Amino acid sequence: MTSTVLVENNAERAGTPAAIPVPRPVGAGGPAKRWSTWQMTRDALLVGMSLEDGMISRVRGHDISRFRAGGRRFVVLTKPEYIDHVLHTARLNYIKSVEFEPIRLAAGLNLLTDEGDSWAEHRAAINPMFARRYLNDIVDLMIDPIEEMTSELAGRAGRIEVDLHEVMVQMTLRVVANALFSQDFGGVVASMSDMATKGLRITEVINRFSTVGLLNRSGWGLIKKSIYSRVPLPPPFSTMQKIAHDLDDAVNAVVDDRIAHPTDSPDLLNILLSADEGSWPRQRVRDEALTFMLAGHETTANAMSWFWYLMALNPEARQRMHAEIDEVLGGRRPGVDDLAQLPWTTACVQESQRYYSAVWSFTREAVADDVIDGHHIRRGTTVIVPSHYLHHDPRYWSDPEQFDPTRFLPGAPRPQRSTYLPFGGGRRVCIGQSFALMEMVLIVAVLSGEFTFDLVPGHPVEPEATVTLRPRHGLRVVARRRQEER
Ligand code: HEM
Repeated sequence: MTSTVLVENNAERAGTPAAIPVPRPVGAGGPAKRWSTWQMTRDALLVGMSLEDGMISRVRGHDISRFRAGGRRFVVLTKPEYIDHVLHTARLNYIKSVEFEPIRLAAGLNLLTDEGDSWAEHRAAINPMFARRYLNDIVDLMIDPIEEMTSELAGRAGRIEVDLHEVMVQMTLRVVANALFSQDFGGVVASMSDMATKGLRITEVINRFSTVGLLNRSGWGLIKKSIYSRVPLPPPFSTMQKIAHDLDDAVNAVVDDRIAHPTDSPDLLNILLSADEGSWPRQRVRDEALTFMLAGHETTANAMSWFWYLMALNPEARQRMHAEIDEVLGGRRPGVDDLAQLPWTTACVQESQRYYSAVWSFTREAVADDVIDGHHIRRGTTVIVPSHYLHHDPRYWSDPEQFDPTRFLPGAPRPQRSTYLPFGGGRRVCIGQSFALMEMVLIVAVLSGEFTFDLVPGHPVEPEATVTLRPRHGLRVVARRRQEER
């Protein structure tokens, strides 16, 4: 097979036999190109999937695209109805693909990587912890570390220039530690930003071998075994080994401490330890705890960094946000009832998640042959849902390159299902979405009461698409005290 990427557009495909996908002109993009397996394999190895230059950037404007890279078959879906099919209608036919193996390597079998009845049972046990009613009760636990770090920043003399991304990593990690674990996570907080950057970069490079089929699930299993064997490994595996052991030590310290000193606090750790009357093995408790430690802060930290970046680029939206926060809070600590009084601030957070989605794409694997609106999906095919593209598709968003929070104000039409996917969708939707939204609005309210953040001139801000979308060189800002503006 020489030409293996077939870009199909369903609207234009009317009358075409369903089983024979035909490349043809689509949208405004001109004739669809055919990409050879060789081209896609080379791209996958050299550039990865990345956001603008990588292989999935080639499918812009098409409802469904097919390509092969090495030994793997892919389809990329950009039509919401097709994504609905995978996430909702035929969800049982789609499991997490090999792209989730790096998460399994670090955090074993957990809510993100588990499947079937076992997943459903664990999700049901943890769900109550993330229900709105419960979250309302832990607002104060979220705010304490936010206020502490804001005061630390405010206490600095002279011109305050910081890497706001690093501040966001520490802040979101401390929020998870305090609100979900009644802990402070110790020294790991200071080293997390560096560990995540190194770990995600190495993973992105190793993932390229997965993308072309050179590293399957068993291969990842072997890497995991060697990493945890404590046998010294060559670079880059030695770096992964160090990170894995540091995280393992940190999470084990948290779990062991609670076992040695039981508490009756109704936090996540106690839910994990007491789930089903203690029938979860110690390993599963460790794996879930590490998942929540990592998934609970890394995404939120990136989402926050993109938020501050976009606000710095949109001073009018920022000014309106400051006015709203000043009017509602007048400098006092926010409480749960204030959240509903901050619609513009909330809309800015939601629009920033559209503009730069911390999880910019996610994947599934078909476990059996399937048909999506006449398009055959063979068993073993990897399905890519490129959220970032959906969020910028002019078919679903007017003027998508415009940062426009009014899209999310109360009363605005709700986005069509599966066109706005910052937290994924279907039954595997992010369990922490309400937690994250609440936390983000609180962080914005507290920090914006104190500071205006402006970009340091000349500092490059560039999206880096690893598993999460991160600012490659951090986010250097000058923090100006708002007191002086008023
Ligand atoms: C802005 C912040 C966040 C973003 C953008 C985000 C994004 C996502 C996305 C897209 C998924 C679905 C992945 C897929 O379907 O393949 C997901 C799942 C998940 N997220 Fe989040 N997340 C955020 C915050 C959080 C927080 C705060 C927590 C926990 C405290 C969390 C824990 C999880 C877990 C455990 C799953 C797996 C759920 C399951 O499969 O049952 N996330 N997240």
